[in-house]
Amino acid sequence: MRVHVADHPLITHKLTVLRDVNTPSPTFRSLAEELVTLLAYEATRNVRVEPVTIQTPVAETTGVAISSPRPLVVPILRAGLGMLEGMVKLVPSAEVGFLGMVRNEETLEPTTYAERLPDDLSDRQCFVLDPMLATGGSLSAAIEFLFKRGAQDVTAICLLGAPEGVAALEKATEGRDVTLVLGALDERLNEKGYIVPGLGDAGDRLYGTV
Ligand code: PRP
Ligand code: URA
Repeated sequence: MRVHVADHPLITHKLTVLRDVNTPSPTFRSLAEELVTLLAYEATRNVRVEPVTIQTPVAETTGVAISSPRPLVVPILRAGLGMLEGMVKLVPSAEVGFLGMVRNEETLEPTTYAERLPDDLSDRQCFVLDPMLATGGSLSAAIEFLFKRGAQDVTAICLLGAPEGVAALEKATEGRDVTLVLGALDERLNEKGYIVPGLGDAGDRLYGTV
């Protein structure tokens, strides 16, 4: 697994506001979108393209276009939905599939409660969106799901990650073509499985408590 941790003052600045307990939901939602757009720039570095010839007003020239099959973006509901607009803004031709997962707050085990993805992901480049990589259970299960459907490679974009989650994901995806792009690598998990210092419950901060 390739791991890329962002190192840019604008990203750190936006993450600092996002972490702040006093930041209200509307600001939190805007920042999550802006952050994923910035991280997507790095995450799409290896997006497949093919040569094309076009005509400018002045001359014929060559360039590239995103290849088919088009990349598939998969937000993990609920919190990953807060990253979708920011991602498709940068790659508007991408298709979007959905995975609904929730982790049991006692056992920290994830369960999948919804799935709306193409049956066949052969040759697909997939981009999974989830703001939080805590124990790594949810993201590992989501990525395994995509590879079982035939995905060619998977890039996960998370706003924050814990070292425990990165290690678990590395183990769970051994031998697979996986890239992880993180806004920041935090210190640790606490006894409740929350990222420290983290930002709290991402879903609740985006959408309120349910
Ligand atoms: C959060 C988060 C991840 C997961 C991370 O979702 O968005 O999906 O927890 O934890 P893990 O790495 O230990 O699996 P949650 O289960 O709270 O659901 P939500 O998005 O509906 O709030
Ligand atoms: N899920 C969250 O939303 N936050 C954490 O810190 C861990 C899991």
